[in-house]
Amino acid sequence: MAFLSDTLARVKPSPTIAVTNKARELKAAGRDVIGLGAGEPDFDTPDNIKKAAIAAIESGKTKYTAVDGIPELKQAICDKFARENGLSYKPSQITVGTGGKQVLYNALVATLNPGDEVLIPAPYWVSYPDMVLLAGGTPTFVEGNMQTGYKITPEQLEAAITPKTKWFIFNSPSNPSGAAYSREELKALTDVLMRHPQVWIMSDDMYEHLVFGDFEFTTPAQVEPGLYDRTLTCNGVSKAYAMTGWRIGYAGGPDALIKAMGKVQSQSTSNPCSVSQYAALEALTGPQDYITESKKAFERRRDLVVSALNTCPGITCPTPEGAFYVYPSIAGCIGKTSAGGVKIVDDEAFASALLEENGVAVVFGAAFGLSPNFRISYATSDAQLTEACARIKAFCEGLK
Ligand SMILES: Cc1ncc(COP(=O)(O)O)c(C=O)c1O
Repeated sequence: MAFLSDTLARVKPSPTIAVTNKARELKAAGRDVIGLGAGEPDFDTPDNIKKAAIAAIESGKTKYTAVDGIPELKQAICDKFARENGLSYKPSQITVGTGGKQVLYNALVATLNPGDEVLIPAPYWVSYPDMVLLAGGTPTFVEGNMQTGYKITPEQLEAAITPKTKWFIFNSPSNPSGAAYSREELKALTDVLMRHPQVWIMSDDMYEHLVFGDFEFTTPAQVEPGLYDRTLTCNGVSKAYAMTGWRIGYAGGPDALIKAMGKVQSQSTSNPCSVSQYAALEALTGPQDYITESKKAFERRRDLVVSALNTCPGITCPTPEGAFYVYPSIAGCIGKTSAGGVKIVDDEAFASALLEENGVAVVFGAAFGLSPNFRISYATSDAQLTEACARIKAFCEGLK
């Protein structure tokens, strides 16, 4: 009898974590490495949020709470959805989990049966396909391309839906491409979804607040109220308030689904950390200055990175609308050989040679389901980004 489960054998460990670990190891060994792999803001959690957490500890808010969130936080989430997204949810339609990741996973575990398909646009966040596999479903893919800014078209969506499609995962702004759908682009997709009543929509709005210029963020249930009864609108405080370590994510959706997700959570982790819930409450109800400030910094860094990368021979980098990632194509580098003698057969070879030879850690595109590309997380200082882009340029100039 095999000790490990067959399901686990189908799942791969997170490549983004692997790159971060590799960069950390090289640094520990004394190498000069710039890590652009990690998907988290480099800013500290705002003080008002930290203080709310300290107050929660000091006033004894350190016990189990209701499994899927304290009532005050659920109310604050309802208010947030109404205020920012024009979505009306009752507290019974809200669930709070240990990060957005757990919320998405709960939904998949609560709903997937063998044979059920989950349609995922590529490039995708690395965890979606593996979470679907862990939950017993089958991931299917529809590919964006650089010409459409890595967004899928309504025609592609229509063609990719099958009678077995149970969920469509929508992520805008996207990790890894930073692409965000305008209201019109999203409406064209929701029109398709209206024609397929068996498909539920999992909207992962984690990067909602990181959109630049005059781009307006919208979410499917807002753009097409006809989808409200089969949409799970997911969000969290990790990226918006620099709270990745606090582990709080949340979602709004139909009562029956929310209840089923609570059942999964009640038999796995129970409530998310009590102290973090009070911190998230302050994040959603307190001053929102951090959002404006961080957005300004990320927009400046996006512009810096995009223009620097477009001067590198063999690289083309479109300008994304949001998040803190860029997803340049390295089509022009494939087939060449690096100064260190590595043949660049694919994006994994590119990323690995770049790290070994020029000390920049990026994540290769195959990890996100679309090649030949790599992802840069520009959630690091302007100085580090400038130096990293100079090293990438030197690497590309050395390709023969
Ligand atoms: C697209 C996307 N969704 C969800 C998450 C999960 O966020 P968390 O579990 O920290 O709330 C991430 C984190 O990287 C992400 O990039």
